[in-house]
Amino acid sequence: MAGYLGRFRHRMYDRIIRVDHAGELGADRIYFGQMLALRSRYPEKAAIIQKMWDQEKVHLNKFEYYAAKHRARKSMLLPIWQAGAFGLGFVPALLGPNAAMAVTEAVEKVIVQHYDSQLRELMADDPVKNEEMIKTISQFRDEEQHHHDCALEHDAKKAPGYQLLSVAVENICKVAVKVAEKI
Ligand SMILES: [Fe+2]
Ligand SMILES: [Fe+2]
Repeated sequence: MAGYLGRFRHRMYDRIIRVDHAGELGADRIYFGQMLALRSRYPEKAAIIQKMWDQEKVHLNKFEYYAAKHRARKSMLLPIWQAGAFGLGFVPALLGPNAAMAVTEAVEKVIVQHYDSQLRELMADDPVKNEEMIKTISQFRDEEQHHHDCALEHDAKKAPGYQLLSVAVENICKVAVKVAEKI
């Protein structure tokens, strides 16, 4: 694979797949945590969250596939991402669905920016050779944008301590992205 892709491109794919796989695993755990906290008390909100969660499972499966295909090294911190993301989903959701939506809005905002920057990098490298990855990430970026907008529509901004919560979650996600690219 390194021969076909070239050493530079192989390193780029290794990094992109590692961080995106970790991120999509995190997204899966966030929605799991939210569902656990909200499913019984807020069934209508849970149905909305379930739809987003289903898409995250598709995203995760795709990066599992890419990790195998490109022999990418997965993040060594997966247990930490899993536990942390579960907490990020579960704990604020105990305050109610608005807080859960505020977390989703903040997470997806960072992820859309992150996917956009990967798309710029892939385009700058080679839009033809990277066509499949560009297609996949564009589609996921659009779906994350939709999750973000959906969270806003469902009263993210009415969450208690909205400003504090969203800034904290954004910063956590930005640090996690930086770390998961490398480790
Ligand atoms: Fe996703
Ligand atoms: Fe998402």
